[in-house]
Amino acid sequence: MNVLVTGGAGFIGSHTVDKLISAGIQTVVIDRAEPKYRNDEAIYYRLDLNNPETENVFKAHDFDCVIHLAAQASVAVSVADPVKDAADNVMASVRVIEYCKKYGVKKIIVSSSAALYAVPQYLPVDEKHPVSFLSPYAISKHTMEEYVRLSGLDYIIFRYANVYGPRQDPHGEAGVVSIFIERALKGLPIEIHGDGEQTRDFVYVADVAEMNCRAVISPASNVVLNVSTNTQTSVNKLFELIKENTDYALLPIPAPSRPGDIKHSVLNNALVAETLDFTPQTTLADGLAETVEFFKRTY
Ligand SMILES: NC(=O)c1ccc[n+]([C@@H]2O[C@H](COP(=O)([O-])OP(=O)(O)OC[C@H]3O[C@@H](n4cnc5c(N)ncnc54)[C@H](O)[C@@H]3O)[C@@H](O)[C@H]2O)c1
Repeated sequence: MNVLVTGGAGFIGSHTVDKLISAGIQTVVIDRAEPKYRNDEAIYYRLDLNNPETENVFKAHDFDCVIHLAAQASVAVSVADPVKDAADNVMASVRVIEYCKKYGVKKIIVSSSAALYAVPQYLPVDEKHPVSFLSPYAISKHTMEEYVRLSGLDYIIFRYANVYGPRQDPHGEAGVVSIFIERALKGLPIEIHGDGEQTRDFVYVADVAEMNCRAVISPASNVVLNVSTNTQTSVNKLFELIKENTDYALLPIPAPSRPGDIKHSVLNNALVAETLDFTPQTTLADGLAETVEFFKRTY
């Protein structure tokens, strides 16, 4: 098989590339960023997907499948700069879909988000839950989903919960896990917003990469699947686990709740278990221990 990974220089993309290569799948990457974690067996093109030269990559390789992970992945950036968000998350996605159609790619696998469930009406949230939008990011991910559905391509739409793990950038708009770990290892103060009892569903990046790899090989198609652990973890609990792993000695600093913060989020993963015969296997304790080790080596 020959697979294109867009966004393959990014956090989830780089793990997905490694997983595909270790499964013996030929892998090509398009990303506008230089890969920090290059896999020597993959072919890399440094290109913006909105650059017309992207078409030449589709022309040069006979892709069986595309895993489309490239995106502007920050909710805050989408609020500050909706034009950039729409360019990266809508226009670039439409181009990828059109190239897939033109060059006979059989299947597209795309990364959408739990952001589409906004404030959940029930927990755990399943894929039938209505979607609604609290940010341009949620709108752009939903728009991408609709283009994929209409494309006539075989597709799998993944809606990821909060992905964490080695290689996640702790700067800028990173996830809470990498921010807490970096600060804990440097002995810096850690703020917890609100009462810290807000919960999230933290899924380990190697499990997400495995899911992408299985989606390539599986005959399943035309389905929306949550990628999650079906487990709620409070921010206070997360802090305690990271404290244990890093010997952090300080107490968390209480900070005001952030406007728009969702109180609880956990995604039902029964459908992905049934469809791809896999659910994330890594416990939060194990995933955090791996992530802390990575940060110790890297930062
Ligand atoms: N990390 C999470 O918790 C999470 C949760 C839900 C959904 N997602 C989605 O998963 C995907 C991967 O996320 P990530 O956390 O690895 O983000 P990331 O920022 O680490 O990776 C995204 C990559 O896409 C590239 N990119 C963006 N726009 C591009 C363009 N126009 N042309 C070429 N390359 C472009 C970036 O250079 C980057 O390397 C994204 O689609 C994101 O929205 C992530």
